[in-house]
Amino acid sequence: MDQVTQVREKIDIVALLSEYIPLKKTGANFKAPCPFHSEKSPSFVVSPERQIWHCFGCGKGGDVFTFLMDYEHVDFPEALRDLAKRAGITLEQKSWQAGSASKKEKIFAINSIASEFYHYILITHPAGKKALEYLINERGITMDLINTFMIGFAPTSGEALSNYLLEKKKQIREDLIEAGISIVRRGRVADFFINRIMFPLIEHRGDVIGFSGRIFDTSSPDVPKYINTRDTIVYHKGTHFFGLNLAKESIKKEAKALIVEGEFDVIACFKHGIRNAIAIKGTALTDQQASLLKRFTSNVALCLDQDNAGQIAVKRSTPVLEKKGLNTSVVIVPSGKDADEALKNGELAFKMAIKHDINVYDFLLGKAEEANSSASADGKQKISRDIIPFLVTIENEIVKEHYVRKLSRVLDTSYEAVIKEMNKIVKKENQQPFIIQSKEKKSRKENLEFYLLALLFQNTNIFKGINSIMDFFTEEIFDNSANAKIFSYLISYCKQSVLFDMNSFTQILPAELMDSFNAFFLFPLPPFLTEEKYEKEVIKSAKDIKLLYLRGKIQLIGREMRKKEIEGDLDGLKLLQDEFINLTNMLGEC
Ligand code: UTP
Ligand code: MN
Repeated sequence: MDQVTQVREKIDIVALLSEYIPLKKTGANFKAPCPFHSEKSPSFVVSPERQIWHCFGCGKGGDVFTFLMDYEHVDFPEALRDLAKRAGITLEQKSWQAGSASKKEKIFAINSIASEFYHYILITHPAGKKALEYLINERGITMDLINTFMIGFAPTSGEALSNYLLEKKKQIREDLIEAGISIVRRGRVADFFINRIMFPLIEHRGDVIGFSGRIFDTSSPDVPKYINTRDTIVYHKGTHFFGLNLAKESIKKEAKALIVEGEFDVIACFKHGIRNAIAIKGTALTDQQASLLKRFTSNVALCLDQDNAGQIAVKRSTPVLEKKGLNTSVVIVPSGKDADEALKNGELAFKMAIKHDINVYDFLLGKAEEANSSASADGKQKISRDIIPFLVTIENEIVKEHYVRKLSRVLDTSYEAVIKEMNKIVKKENQQPFIIQSKEKKSRKENLEFYLLALLFQNTNIFKGINSIMDFFTEEIFDNSANAKIFSYLISYCKQSVLFDMNSFTQILPAELMDSFNAFFLFPLPPFLTEEKYEKEVIKSAKDIKLLYLRGKIQLIGREMRKKEIEGDLDGLKLLQDEFINLTNMLGEC
């Protein structure tokens, strides 16, 4: 057995997917809202029997590997590596050491060594002494916290880490450069980070993807306070959160993520028992970050700096979070510019502020009211201009109406006037309509075809189903070519075997038909209480399909006949007439 199969057999699809999405048992299968497109009623189905999944909304489907690849945005070797780890299988090098996965592995390994090196320098080496004192005495960071967050120090020498990696760890310079750890300075390999306190950025799956380095002596005002790893194949600015690796379990448990500005804010929160804090690192929240959050919770509290930049970040982040269906609130930092300072000024007050977070739309409306007088026409216009662009983005109609009413009260104007202003914005935006990806709508006939095949494949006695329609149903009746092909495979299988075995059937199916087949197998059907009712349903739907097929054909021939008449082709007309009569007779039999 090859290692891929070994891993697949050891991993249970239901157990794995349950860690990502809330699966609910329905009959023999499990269901959940699809994680790959947004939907209200669940159309994502998992079969424990066949260890497959399929979404009837967006059409995606596959096995444990494809799920992980789609969900984590990783390639096959990476998914294999992850699942092998879970399954306790040690992969032979060749299974994964190909392509970009091995490159990423390499960079993770280098970053991991680097973070240990920096950490070692900070906590034990004389070169890190001043930084350590700064952290402990001036920032209130304990040794425990330094260890938990693997905080380190990049020494001033400028080549120490690069040399260590090259000489002691036998790495090659190209990889160090690709990891963003080293650069070439005057023809020599040198360290990218120098004389900075180092925070490893650890992705939620535990890999070190990059670093941010903070200066600690403010003697040289020209250098930036923080520098981050430049973009590499594993680090992309604005797609991760600092601290998510440590916070993710608390975020799930508390059903809320607390978004703070920077590294020190996360660490200060952690120190005071607030374990669901993660940092966006001084920018507005991106689409990718919102998607990442969505995996862990649907509630987000923004606790950003009280300065202007922080408030702009709230405004930028709100529609991004709304679009992903996340409920957003704002924590008003009681004293000080950020969470770190607020906690120093008063732990209790800060914790109360978190407890009394304000819905983001109430917050924004409050801010607009503070800045303008709602008594004058001018002030009303300013408030409405500030707030309406946010209200139009609200997905939930009830929530939207709540705020439309609130705004009309605040402005002492009519509900209709607010709606009119909202419509103007919607119209303006629609001038450049964004394209909603929707799958082509299936015809009624195709839906019925699908239903029939689902009925056939989901019954324990497929032979019975097939036999009941054999005398009037053939593969030409299908519109959809995949349906027709699968049906013809089924018929020839049934002719050759006495028992239907799902596994041996799937082995004869060509790979390109597997997705369609899985969909039939997983399509949620109503329960049929008796075999009789089931058989009736099979016959009824097969007849309905045939009826639609015949009607379509008759229409077509009718048109052809008119053409022949005009052309004066009487022989051709006669042939068509015979066929027409034949088809109408068949229609009567249905
Ligand atoms: P701030 O500049 O608000 O940090 O940047 P701060 O609270 O004053 O600084 P500390 O607490 O003394 O460290 C907030 C966050 O923005 C990112 C960092 O993640 C920082 O924690 N940042 C800031 C950068 O990435 N680059 C910078 O030059 C500055
Ligand atoms: Mn700070």
